[in-house]
Amino acid sequence: MTAFHPTSHKPSEHTQVAESAFDTLYVHANIATMNADFGCTLDSKNNPDNTTTDVAAIPYGQLLDAAIATRAGKIAWIGSSEAAQNLTAEQTFDLQGRWVTPALIDCHTHLVYGGNRSNEFEARLQGVSYSEIAQQGGGILSTVTATRAISAEQLYQQTEPRLRALIGDGVTTIEIKSGYGLDLDNERKMLQVARKLGQDYGVTIKTTYLAAHALPPEYKDNADGYIDAVCEWMPILHAEGLIDAVDAFCENIAFTLEQVTRVFDTATQLGLPIKLHAEQLSNMGGSGLVADFGGLSSDHIEYLSEANVVKMAQAGTVAVLLPAAFYTLHETQRPPIASLRAHGVAMAISTDCNPGTSPCTSLRLAMNMGCTLFALTPEEALAGTTLHAAKALGLQQHKGKIAIGYDADLAIWDIDRPADLSYLMGKPSLFALTSPTLTTPANLFNLPTVWQA
Ligand code: NIG
Ligand code: FE
Repeated sequence: MTAFHPTSHKPSEHTQVAESAFDTLYVHANIATMNADFGCTLDSKNNPDNTTTDVAAIPYGQLLDAAIATRAGKIAWIGSSEAAQNLTAEQTFDLQGRWVTPALIDCHTHLVYGGNRSNEFEARLQGVSYSEIAQQGGGILSTVTATRAISAEQLYQQTEPRLRALIGDGVTTIEIKSGYGLDLDNERKMLQVARKLGQDYGVTIKTTYLAAHALPPEYKDNADGYIDAVCEWMPILHAEGLIDAVDAFCENIAFTLEQVTRVFDTATQLGLPIKLHAEQLSNMGGSGLVADFGGLSSDHIEYLSEANVVKMAQAGTVAVLLPAAFYTLHETQRPPIASLRAHGVAMAISTDCNPGTSPCTSLRLAMNMGCTLFALTPEEALAGTTLHAAKALGLQQHKGKIAIGYDADLAIWDIDRPADLSYLMGKPSLFALTSPTLTTPANLFNLPTVWQA
């Protein structure tokens, strides 16, 4: 890591005016703003109301030799490094030509879980399928057993290295699902651990209630009874402030459209946004259901039909692509990327970090797989972990692009071009990460502690 120290910016001819002073100024940056105002065409899909039509298309909405100023945790000024000479700020960083992007957003994870399923990895390599393992009582249920067996403290400790890996990859906003508790107390335990990790690390955690993930042994042969329980627990956990959104697994090895509809009805009554694991292994039509509910996202979607692509486009539902799960399961059916593109559906990319289908804690690797396996462009991949991932979490007014008034969540990279973020595999390229809330392990320019601690 290059030694790097802030230099105080001393404007010689300018009197410091309190209201124009900024907290932090970054100069000599190359910026992938992902902002339509600077030419990013992918942003116009995110914000159909955006009226800026006279800006020429520029990949990534990039600005060269540019500057960003922040105040009170928000991006407050964007312009050229030259114009920034007239600004005053408490601290100024000369980025020496490094690239700045919105900090990355991992919008679909099962980060909080107990145990390890590398035995299933070995079994699948011998030809046993994911569905067969699930039907034999392994799969999700083996992680349920492991997660139930440990305390909240142990669950926190097992999750922490995964969270640190994501942060070290440039991520400051993470969605974390429950779904390995499958009873009230253990679902609560998972969601509380997710909340505490967010507080302790100062990252933005969005929690998703996924009790409708698998049928627990207590409800064997009584899926409808279990869905009743899922709907009874939801208001209890919501009243405890533990739920930001509601998800379910709609699949022939999980829950039916009718059962998922009941979960969504309850969520809607509580005012909670919904999303769905849909069309991962077969075309159940779950994506159409999410769209009918005006849901945030439909996730996996390898078997998504054209008719439901159209529904998603009309509803503004984000397509969350999970290429690391596709890769791990040796899937061959690709999500309908060309159709999603043609209909203007925003595409996000996420790790889907979980012990079964995606033991992946690198969002950058998921971006690489999105390009190599699904033929996304590197610009789409970056939009998928910034702009469109923000939309998948309902955060599109606050995060995911470099725009005035947006949260100052910034990733600063030692790369030559933005495409390097998708192209390089495994090279730690993050130079610094900042967010108004980031506390532990480190704030700006103190990243080595991400790996040291
Ligand atoms: O997103 N598809 C369902 N849920 C997870 C896998 C969970 C597991 O196998 O533990 C997924 O792929
Ligand atoms: Fe998942």
